[in-house]
Amino acid sequence: MITGDANNNVTDHIFEKIGYNLHKRPDHPLGIIKSVIEDYFDETFGKDTFTSFDDLYPVVSTYANFDSVLVPPDHVSRSANDTYYVDAENVLRCHTSAHQLEMLKDGATKFLVTGDVYRRDSIDATHFPVFHQMEGVRVFEKEEWESKGVEAVDLARDELQSTLEGLARHLFGDVEMRWVDAYFPFTEPSMELEIFFKGEWLEVLGCGVMEMQILKEAGLEDKRAWAFGLGLERLAMVLFDVPDIRLFWSDDKRFTKQFKAGMFKAGGVDMQKFKPYSKYPPCLKDVSFWLPKDAEDGSNAFSENNLCEVVRDAAGSLVEEVKLIDEFENPKKGLTSNCFRITYRSMERSLTDEEINAIQDKVRENMVAKLGVELR
Ligand code: DAH
Repeated sequence: MITGDANNNVTDHIFEKIGYNLHKRPDHPLGIIKSVIEDYFDETFGKDTFTSFDDLYPVVSTYANFDSVLVPPDHVSRSANDTYYVDAENVLRCHTSAHQLEMLKDGATKFLVTGDVYRRDSIDATHFPVFHQMEGVRVFEKEEWESKGVEAVDLARDELQSTLEGLARHLFGDVEMRWVDAYFPFTEPSMELEIFFKGEWLEVLGCGVMEMQILKEAGLEDKRAWAFGLGLERLAMVLFDVPDIRLFWSDDKRFTKQFKAGMFKAGGVDMQKFKPYSKYPPCLKDVSFWLPKDAEDGSNAFSENNLCEVVRDAAGSLVEEVKLIDEFENPKKGLTSNCFRITYRSMERSLTDEEINAIQDKVRENMVAKLGVELR
């Protein structure tokens, strides 16, 4: 994927993740949650009414990723700061919604798409640049709303909400839920489902009634549809008590041995949760620097996402967190200073000083070379 293309910003560390397909491993927490959701759709709508796809390739065109789902031309998610570009016309999909239109064009009317998605982002215990989403779409025929004597949008919205409330109960047991208005370019109305779990309101998924423009583009102008999207890591972390998102990528037996297909029980009632094993000690490194001045067009090579990419490139999954701990301005110099704390920790072993110093040296070098900062 290191194409040498000027627009390419996919690092080796990210490229290596393609093909892992954690969601296709039956005994992996992500595979388990995926099957639990697929089972729910089988139970609710009848076996195989919804067709499941989980092997669609993650490299998609910018048209599929953005335009096909009506993401506006100037939307931030299109920037190279947020999205991994293979070249100017192709990206690592940043959501499974990228497949909605092509599936509809292929004639699918009730389907689930699960896959790995990629986003440039900050680094902490709940964010990893590769994660997994599941998308659901259901198309209605004209007869369905006419025979009921209701508006198409109302039918779609009502079924969507009752289906997803049922899904939330299937996953979380008997919990309190609420609907929150939301905005997505591809749906109207749009909403998010939140559940009250362990004392907190937790966003579970986004959904809505599909914009007619998408159905028209698919040649389905006389139909209506609903759609939803959810993140599997998010669900697996709360349902199994997994404290760090990097654990999903670990092949440490102490992690993998704890999960088995079929172990899941709604709400975790009587279910074996993840038992953390002792963590290896962290290694902290602070780095202070002056930010580069803005270029003439107002752009700046420095951004937190770019810094995180530089750190990941040098440290791979040994980096646990990158956090801004101090910021001040020097009005005389007209410069801003930042101090970031980088936490290194392995999920599998103790780190040595030498290896972390070598990584940190590389990070500092690349901060100067690639981000244009002045180290202090
Ligand atoms: N694509 C959205 C995201 O990644 C999630 C989503 C929201 C998918 C609403 C949908 C939807 O299909 O209707 O944040």
